[in-house]
Amino acid sequence: MSFAFGIGIGTQNNQGEWLEVFYPQPIMTPETELIDVVETSLNYRGGNQAIHATAEQLTQLASALRQTGAIDQASLAEKAASSERPVVVTVLETDDTASSTPEVYLKLHLLSHRQAKPHGLKLDGIFGLLPNLAWTNEGAIDLNELPERQLKARMEGRTLEIKSVDKFPQMTDYVVPKGVRIADTARVRLGAYVGEGTTVMHEGFINFNAGTEGTSMIEGRISAGVMIGKGSDLGGGCSTMGTLSGGGNMVIAVGENCLIGANAGIGIPLGDRCKVEAGLYITAGTKVALLDDSNTLVEIIKARDLANKPDLLFRRNSQTGAVECKTNQSAIELNEELHANN
Ligand SMILES: CC(C)(COP(=O)(O)OP(=O)(O)OC[C@H]1O[C@@H](n2cnc3c(N)ncnc32)[C@H](O)[C@@H]1OP(=O)(O)O)[C@@H](O)C(=O)NCCC(=O)NCCS
Repeated sequence: MSFAFGIGIGTQNNQGEWLEVFYPQPIMTPETELIDVVETSLNYRGGNQAIHATAEQLTQLASALRQTGAIDQASLAEKAASSERPVVVTVLETDDTASSTPEVYLKLHLLSHRQAKPHGLKLDGIFGLLPNLAWTNEGAIDLNELPERQLKARMEGRTLEIKSVDKFPQMTDYVVPKGVRIADTARVRLGAYVGEGTTVMHEGFINFNAGTEGTSMIEGRISAGVMIGKGSDLGGGCSTMGTLSGGGNMVIAVGENCLIGANAGIGIPLGDRCKVEAGLYITAGTKVALLDDSNTLVEIIKARDLANKPDLLFRRNSQTGAVECKTNQSAIELNEELHANN
């Protein structure tokens, strides 16, 4: 059984190097018969491969796919046969480290199509395979070719609008998953996993390999690698700490039914039903005064010791400045839980 498959329409630069690929119907664990057909039609010989397919090969692939009953993929191959842009057929036999741009794009599509969860795919080394591009109203353009294309557009009476200069495009140019609202589409990158029922407001941002499980109101930043549980909201301008640069190595996540207040931030993973007061940034090393259900101090601990624990309220005491954590547990329960592994 292979790992993933996709027929994509791509863009190449003047050197014939792949810049990006659009896979309308990527699939995880394709049927063996489908891969057998790719072997015969495209001379695929196993492993992870991105095959630049000709119109003739795609027509042959389409009819062979139709015979195996893979109707959707067959009709995509048929349409792709008449594409004016280059077509790539990518087969990933395994989830090994990607070795080409089309392979990386297939993985990013699997995430945004909700076929794979963040942390569910091997993404190491992808930065080196994603060229930094100008994303324009006329598609992706190699930065070396940009001045020429800008001049050409002007001379033909058009303006080339550059939406961004980045390694990742915006997700919605590739897929709009069912049941989402995204106020400013530029703020969600391809490779984000946006759960059904999620609203991303203008201040919200979702990086690749990160996202929401389900219903959520996102008005803050979901950094790479961070997953937000169902029913949790991120207040305006808040931040979840990423692990890509400078951060700790703890994987940050937010449990279900949490609220991170406006301009707050977390550097530890939160359990279910937690709240962080507006404006309070908790890092792993923040010293926290842990209060029990009757507001009595139990002990001073580091926030990392409260990672993944449910039903906590973090706030900065407005009179003393101390960071406090209130729970609905008694001092005895808290002590037992905190020191269970001592
Ligand atoms: C932390 C937070 C959740 C507390 O809210 P709450 O549980 O409703 O608590 P209340 O405001 O009712 O306060 C309860 C008591 O604690 C006190 N209190 C609240 N915050 C305090 C603080 N930082 N320091 C000292 N006392 C505080 C209140 O004065 C009140 O005291 P009282 O019992 O004497 O009346 C809330 O202040 C907050 O920051 N919410 C985030 C909202 C947000 O940003 N949403 C996103 C919008 S985009």
